[in-house]
Amino acid sequence: MGAKANVTSPGAAVGASLPHDSAHLHVTGQAAYTDDLPEPRDLLHVAVGMSPLAHGELRSTDLSKVRSAAGVVDVCLAADIPGENNFGPIVHDDPIFAVDTVEFAGQPVFAVIATTVDAARKAARFAQLDIAARPAILEIEAAVEAGSFVLPSETLVRGDPDTALQGAPHRAQRKVSLGGQDQFYLEGHIAMAVPTEDRGMTVYSSTQHPDEVQTLVAKATQRSAKDITVICRRMGGAFGGKESQAALIACIAALSADKTGKPCKLRLDRDDDMIMTGKRHDFVIQYDVGFDDTGLILGIDFEFASRCGMSADLSGPVNDRAMFSCDNAYFLENVRIVSHRCKTNTVSNTAFRGFGGPQGMFAIEYAVDDIARRLDKDPLEIRRRNFYGKDERNITQYQQTVEDSITDEVFEQLLASSDYTVRREEIRAFNANSAVLRRGIAITPVKFGISFTNTLLNQAGALVHVYKDGTVQLNHGGTEMGQGLYIKVAQVVADEFQIDVERIRIMAADTSKVPNASATAASSGADMNGMAAKKAAAKIRARLSGFAARHYNVSEGEVEFRNNSVFVADQQLSFEELVQAAWAERVSLSATGFYKTPKINYDRTTFSGRPFLYFAYGAAVTEVIVDRLTGENRTLRVDILHDCGDSLNPAIDIGQVEGGYVQGVGWLTSEELWWNDHGSLGTHAPSTYKIPTCSDLAADFRVALMQSVPNREETIYRSKAVGEPPLMLALSAFFALRDAIVSDDDPLPDLHAPATPESILRAVSGST
Ligand code: MTE
Ligand code: MOS
Repeated sequence: MGAKANVTSPGAAVGASLPHDSAHLHVTGQAAYTDDLPEPRDLLHVAVGMSPLAHGELRSTDLSKVRSAAGVVDVCLAADIPGENNFGPIVHDDPIFAVDTVEFAGQPVFAVIATTVDAARKAARFAQLDIAARPAILEIEAAVEAGSFVLPSETLVRGDPDTALQGAPHRAQRKVSLGGQDQFYLEGHIAMAVPTEDRGMTVYSSTQHPDEVQTLVAKATQRSAKDITVICRRMGGAFGGKESQAALIACIAALSADKTGKPCKLRLDRDDDMIMTGKRHDFVIQYDVGFDDTGLILGIDFEFASRCGMSADLSGPVNDRAMFSCDNAYFLENVRIVSHRCKTNTVSNTAFRGFGGPQGMFAIEYAVDDIARRLDKDPLEIRRRNFYGKDERNITQYQQTVEDSITDEVFEQLLASSDYTVRREEIRAFNANSAVLRRGIAITPVKFGISFTNTLLNQAGALVHVYKDGTVQLNHGGTEMGQGLYIKVAQVVADEFQIDVERIRIMAADTSKVPNASATAASSGADMNGMAAKKAAAKIRARLSGFAARHYNVSEGEVEFRNNSVFVADQQLSFEELVQAAWAERVSLSATGFYKTPKINYDRTTFSGRPFLYFAYGAAVTEVIVDRLTGENRTLRVDILHDCGDSLNPAIDIGQVEGGYVQGVGWLTSEELWWNDHGSLGTHAPSTYKIPTCSDLAADFRVALMQSVPNREETIYRSKAVGEPPLMLALSAFFALRDAIVSDDDPLPDLHAPATPESILRAVSGST
């Protein structure tokens, strides 16, 4: 113990660079993750038996050898599920355990429950599954050809793209593939279900969405929500991977606990986690863009096809967001976007930081890059030519007016601070004299819409208690996954009471404290929970003010909270003195707060409205050097300028910007998912799946936040969400690599993502 957060000047918590509330626990190994919680007496451990085939008819499941293996207590199959065999969040097409068919290699077929983790995992291998193989659809293009979709294809049209394309002086077409990405959170999926008296159950789950786990566990075990409590103090990373699919793990643990009557824990090991749970959607992107001599986009036709895997999961909203994000920072006057949501016999893909947005932005940035290469101009020029305007050319393809565009300002500042123009010339000179090593540079913008596109999800609740000693307990519906949500919300509450943040105890997300909470996702955690907590604290503060005014016979305007104190006319009391006195006069010191995001509305049938309250902006310049003979490369320098409005906590936000960028670079350059011809994932451990490490970082890495750009919307202290947008800054790394391999012989290298050394080499040698 001992280590402690920095003490701030009281009442100035918001905007201060406070360390993460658990930083001292993280670095000393004391932060309790789900697997670190004290294990209840009689705890049993669960392992999952998975389908070895990508597609087949499940004829029989002989578990006799599993049952008789050492340490095994029981097994659990689809037939043992008392309630609904589903963990699908929107469309109920996700069986917890396979019934008659298996639809991907790795699909859970049964669970084995044993006295130790090892015994359970060993026994799972003794199953004899009789599966008659059926032809599997493994690739996106095969699915499109076969008309195999998890959801109907969607089309969004604005203007008249056909006429615009026909009349355009120049056209460029391309088909490019963009890989998926494993979330690779350090803490894998885990849940522990503990039966409590009278058919109650407490589920400790590493989940971004405790409310949904509560709902789905209740349905699977034939209970109701009131019987299930779901608790999550923190996750060791989630990145979208624990938004919907944590429910699978929780349901299996809960069904095991229900069947045995004993507490049961399921922790996936890394390989099973990667094989069994969903990832970022990979895409095949096609476009046809028409433009004039200046690079102005006149019309563009996009066709997106994404690998959704065997079920819908969150693929609807993920692909919708790709359609909403394929303008990035550019005005597309005449545009058609066709989006296919392909059903394949692979794991069901899910949320991943950016939620389809990165894929949409990749598409338009590639088109912009192609336009520049065709016109022999710096892509920078084409970007600027197409930015959203301030008063005109500012309506998105989904009819939302972009009221807050600061892309021009961000670019201007970043171009200056990164010395872009000078370096561009240096690079040109360097490359002219270097046959093998080539440098490249790119600047790319980010404009990312903030809010859940499903309007009803934009609601949040909080519960604040003030105790007699003047300390505060803070509960809200948000979950902590390392992003720093909990310290930010604590800062907000500290400011409301004008007390030190150290007086606040931050509690776990707990469905019994705050009901019906949305997932912590869409980067809206601080926007929504910060506001809900502020409202709860404001209620208590108003009661305290009212009490003080009555007690001292002054007007409420004469009561001021400041500096851990309360000033009443000319008297000064400590915060705890006022709290004590109020309690003695029977004033309630506990309150809930509720927030719903204003202004948003959106009609999914027409893809129009205002899905987003506002946009977050940023830009990045990346410079790389590539070896044209091997494809190996290194990042030389990165400059980022990112917009967090009036930041609630600049240190946390810079951490999010750095982490997001690096994670995006992993997606676009080194992380490659590979399935064999039978649909088995070959890359299911860090030995074969290469996430970025510290040594991949640019030695020169400069990150700054935009200053003095408060959110023009009334968000919490005029801040902006920061969780996802910075990931897309990594597009600059991809296009810097492409810039490095452009040559007179090949001005339009066919570079696919991830741009691994192999992929770069294929592009250089023109064999794709
Ligand atoms: N940062 C860390 N350290 N770990 C995470 O799992 N998830 C990201 C982002 N930043 C994540 C993270 C994703 S996908 C989202 S949607 C947001 O955090 C969610 O938190 P917020 O809404 O509080 O920003
Ligand atoms: Mo984040 S992908 O919205 O969990």
